[in-house]
Amino acid sequence: MSRSSVKETHVKQTTPGSAARPVAGVAAVVMAAGLGKRMQSKHAKVLHSVAGRPMVLYSVDLALRIAGHQIVVIVGHQADRVSQVIKDATGQRNGHVPISIVEQRELLGTGHAVLQTRPVFVESGRVMPGQFLILNGDTPLLQEATLRELLEVHRRQEAAVTILTAMLDDASGYGRVVRSSSAECVSRIVEDRDADAAVKMLHEINVGTYVVEGDFLFSALERLEPSNAQGEFYLTDIVQTAVEQGRRVAAVRLEDPHDGLGVNTRRQLAEAEQVVRQQVRHRWLDAGVRMIDPASTWIDAGVTIGKDSVLYPNVMLEGATVIGEDVIVRSGTRITDCTIGNRVEILDHCVCRDSRIEDDAMVGPFAHLRPHVLVRKGAKIGNFVEAKKTELGEGSKANHLSYLGDAKIGKGVNIGAGTITCNYDGVRKAETIIEDGVFIGSDSQLVAPVKVGAGTMIAAGTTVTQNVPADSLVISRVMQVTRPGWAAKRRALLSEGGARLAKSGAAGGKTRKTAGRRQSNKRS
Ligand code: UD1
Ligand code: CA
Repeated sequence: MSRSSVKETHVKQTTPGSAARPVAGVAAVVMAAGLGKRMQSKHAKVLHSVAGRPMVLYSVDLALRIAGHQIVVIVGHQADRVSQVIKDATGQRNGHVPISIVEQRELLGTGHAVLQTRPVFVESGRVMPGQFLILNGDTPLLQEATLRELLEVHRRQEAAVTILTAMLDDASGYGRVVRSSSAECVSRIVEDRDADAAVKMLHEINVGTYVVEGDFLFSALERLEPSNAQGEFYLTDIVQTAVEQGRRVAAVRLEDPHDGLGVNTRRQLAEAEQVVRQQVRHRWLDAGVRMIDPASTWIDAGVTIGKDSVLYPNVMLEGATVIGEDVIVRSGTRITDCTIGNRVEILDHCVCRDSRIEDDAMVGPFAHLRPHVLVRKGAKIGNFVEAKKTELGEGSKANHLSYLGDAKIGKGVNIGAGTITCNYDGVRKAETIIEDGVFIGSDSQLVAPVKVGAGTMIAAGTTVTQNVPADSLVISRVMQVTRPGWAAKRRALLSEGGARLAKSGAAGGKTRKTAGRRQSNKRS
């Protein structure tokens, strides 16, 4: 068997902890090294997300909630990316159970995977955990209560191994649970590829979630042989080892087989997505959020929403978005990784990413907040406004058709329709500073870097290229030329010419002349 490497990281809880505490003496192992061929993807299976969260984090999260001793995640395929996802999600956290990441360099099966954690437990000089909770990284629907029950049954029955099973109408692809003739005891688990016709008929499947006694796990893993259709070291074979040694194997059967859904294919991924989305919606409905049409309201698992907020149909709330109370989000809006205060109104068809909107502000319809926008209290971003890396101060307004990029805008500022911050000269980005109380007339451009002092008025149509001291008027327009009667004369001339042409009229000549005039118009 190949070498392994061990890295240790301390991490924080990924979701709000439940009332129940982690169980002392229980270590968790999450297997997340596989490629997942059946996904038909270039990305490792456990990185595929369910309700906006990579699948592996569902297992890691359960491990964090239950294991009081130690957590180990086994990575292999795209190890760096998987490790990064785990580190990013769990951050820096003190005083909690440590998470180690172990690399499985060659993917030789689930038994081989778990054996790679041996150095963490056996050679570290640490106390051996009483039990190991072993989880597949592809079971995002598992419930914490199920795992607690699994542990409970394991301890009560003094088992060496306890497995989680489910009854499926279509069990194809899964490992089948073979029971003794009395049907009481599990005698072994047979993988689909190794199953004969009789075993294939069985509907009880192995979910891929196990509790294994501390003193039994590694001794059993060391005895594994890759004598099966895939030539792999199967974790599931430790069941038979336990039986052979006269030790007890217990089993807990899921009431709702959906909870144990293992995501192996895109279809199963879509199925898991539906279930998790529904759970998330129910959670927020129960917490006092109004959804006009829950079915078309898409909320990622990592989102939080305050009481009495109203979500209209076809709203998407993504990533780590936090929404306050009494917020209204109208139809067709997508909000990703934003923090939104109380009583904010986001009208229809907005895209908001990685931005912050403070209390009582209004955004949209049809607004685009690109990353790092800060809309201060009571400020307004109106229709067809795009903003990026910009602060719009308290009570300020940009109501129509503007681009605000790399701008710092003070309080009580009025940004007129069609105002553009020219923040990019083709090479560098530069900043526009607009101080408190400035009034910017419509269709103005601010060529950055530029600063407009407090209380200044900028006349409509102005191009501001130089810094402006406070309380100024800025106007930059070409002198207006007005020629009374000019337009009427032109119309008369044109209609005279038309009449002459009609009289002289060979059809061919006419088209040629018209064509000629069109061309000369284009050149002028
Ligand atoms: C496994 C079980 C099967 C069960 C099914 C439930 C084994 C031998 N079989 O099969 O009985 O019905 O799960 O979904 O365990 N992994 C590694 N390293 C490896 C191989 C896999 O870390 O070398 C990880 C994968 O990333 C995944 C988990 O182990 O998270 C399960 O692997 P997968 O290939 O999906 O196993 P199945 O064939 O589904
Ligand atoms: Ca699987």
